[in-house]
Amino acid sequence: MYMIDLIQKKKQCLELTDSELTFLVQGITNETIPDYQITAWAMAVYFQGMTKRELIAFTKAMLNSGQTLDLKAVKGFKVDKHSTGGVGDKTSLVFAPVAASLGLKVCKMSGKGLGITGGTIDKLLAIPNFKTELSTAEFIATINKVGFSITGQTANLVPADKKLYALRDVSGTIDILELIAASVMSKKIALGTDLILLDVKCGTGAFAQDLAAARKLANLMIDIGQGFHKQVIVVISDMNRPLGRAIGNALELKEVVASLENQGPDDLKELVVNLTGLALAASNKKLTLAAAKNQVIKTFNSPKPLKLFYDFVVAQGGDLNYIKNLNKLPATKHILLVKANNEGYLDFNNIYFLGELSVLLGAGRIVKDDIIDPLAGIILKQVHGDQVKKNQVIMELHTNKEITREKEFQELALKTFTIKGEKPKLSKLILEIIM
Ligand code: URA
Repeated sequence: MYMIDLIQKKKQCLELTDSELTFLVQGITNETIPDYQITAWAMAVYFQGMTKRELIAFTKAMLNSGQTLDLKAVKGFKVDKHSTGGVGDKTSLVFAPVAASLGLKVCKMSGKGLGITGGTIDKLLAIPNFKTELSTAEFIATINKVGFSITGQTANLVPADKKLYALRDVSGTIDILELIAASVMSKKIALGTDLILLDVKCGTGAFAQDLAAARKLANLMIDIGQGFHKQVIVVISDMNRPLGRAIGNALELKEVVASLENQGPDDLKELVVNLTGLALAASNKKLTLAAAKNQVIKTFNSPKPLKLFYDFVVAQGGDLNYIKNLNKLPATKHILLVKANNEGYLDFNNIYFLGELSVLLGAGRIVKDDIIDPLAGIILKQVHGDQVKKNQVIMELHTNKEITREKEFQELALKTFTIKGEKPKLSKLILEIIM
């Protein structure tokens, strides 16, 4: 078999066979196929797509490139929750303790953020000594003890994806919905939970820029789930606005703790109530979604989610004093104020730039090995739709970068919003639920 023939076939919109896809994935894993041929094939997928059969066979080959987990030792209904990535998206860190408070077992392996979207692991790494590289035994023990655990992906979980992702990242082939779906789902299926709960972000701050793309991505992942007899539920949520008011690792942790004290932003709570309600109803067929959501709302009023979050930090070696004293963290060298240049209504219309700004301030990575500044980020003092006066502070930029870059930061900040004479339409946060 020759890789050139597989590229030609895909270019001509022909279906690859199961053995061709296995050959491809083995070649990616063993590095026997050169990078330029792999990226040429990925680009052909961008133009020609994949059939459902191809997608399932490709995902299976990816899954088989490494080890899968056996979670039999975890008793109870096991849920894996995943977001396709957004700006200020700290949902998993609120979802997991809330869901665990209701008896669900949340088993989550997470990646680091790259590009404009932050990663859950990076937020956790802001906590001194927090361990994000658990062995399988430690992962299972933490889930059994606390009700949830979040760890980084083990090196041997879908190794083909790590190699392919690194190539896609430098060859303009990240935003290919079929490849995103197979990448995400191979890792979810390798984990082996009862439910895969997916939050597909839709908007200027996400891979799926509009509802049509988000629906397509959702359905591709549901198709893959069906191929593996896995229950998959997808929530499509709006990413034309940031989630909550904090962007950046320690700043988001503060918002997580506030949410677990039921004093967090409404949008984050709404998303968590929906996601947890769906998971709870899936775990118990006698429970309606409305009744499940009511239970979640009640749980927000109980001290249990915050206690479980503390237990999780301790179980994974993190410094609990840090979490309990987030308000006493030192400030960054500079806190720059971005002010309204006009009066009117605030319309955040480019969340991509907001994500990019947080990266420039030090909260994310431009290249894989960049070091993140846990204190850097953005606090939104006003949100989408708010009425503002001229010179009113819209956002604070927290950074330890050179002050000589202030002009660059301010210019980018001003590209994230406009101030309009009329109140902009606020779309629903939860756009669609597909199962
Ligand atoms: N997240 C993944 O895990 N894979 C992708 O391809 C994109 C986002």
